[in-house]
Amino acid sequence: MSSTDYNSDTITDMIPEPTAAPRVVVLISGSGSNLQALIDAQSHDRLGGEIVAVISNEPDAYGLKRARDAGIDAVALPHREYESREAYDGALIKVIERHEPDVIVLAGFMRILTPRFVQRFLGRMLNIHPSLLPAYQGLNTHARALADQAARHGCSVHFVTEELDGGPVVLQAELKVSADDTVDTLKQKVQDREHLIFPIAVQWFLQGRLQYTGEGATMDGHRLPPHGMRLSHDDAAEELDEAER
Ligand code: GAR
Repeated sequence: MSSTDYNSDTITDMIPEPTAAPRVVVLISGSGSNLQALIDAQSHDRLGGEIVAVISNEPDAYGLKRARDAGIDAVALPHREYESREAYDGALIKVIERHEPDVIVLAGFMRILTPRFVQRFLGRMLNIHPSLLPAYQGLNTHARALADQAARHGCSVHFVTEELDGGPVVLQAELKVSADDTVDTLKQKVQDREHLIFPIAVQWFLQGRLQYTGEGATMDGHRLPPHGMRLSHDDAAEELDEAER
């Protein structure tokens, strides 16, 4: 066989097409510090995908600026311009689907979702919540934990289902509440933990390790306990260098 038998078509056929990175759409309503943690993870190749769009229901959300600064498509979709929750969620579905996401990440998206919306993306939506779920679903989680004199607080990443803050938990980071903690100190410590665990959970999902099933969440094919995997206070504090602050 002479070298002329190798024509360029054959060689081209042998070069694999570059596989496109999984696509991430992030929904926000506010500051977007969790969005920033996801952007930072992506820039260090630790997200497992590409954030292709950030959508906010609040047009002035600072997170939209963070997205633009990172060169990400930033979309303001103000809910006040729609006459009903159903109409808004219908419009949101259209914008999201235009970006063909593999995962939809709710990073401080402060809206109750309609069943239609949840069903459309069931199993592909992850939310971060500022408590150790199932404790303190809903709002004002830090104040409620303090009022209860809770010994432990923290944050949870969970799959989104129709039950508000009630979907299967995949990962939590724990925090020992100290006697001098206030709403502000708790908020800061909880958010530091959110920024630590949220990108990890998104990466696990995009790697196919984390999955939603009707009975709960699985990791590498194993059913997770109701509180998911948990990063202890000590491990989180060490990771965040908290002792040195
Ligand atoms: C985060 O602390 C997140 O846990 C919370 O909103 C904050 C958004 O901050 N989400 C909820 O309470 C949802 N129930 P960020 O905009 O700086 O990421």
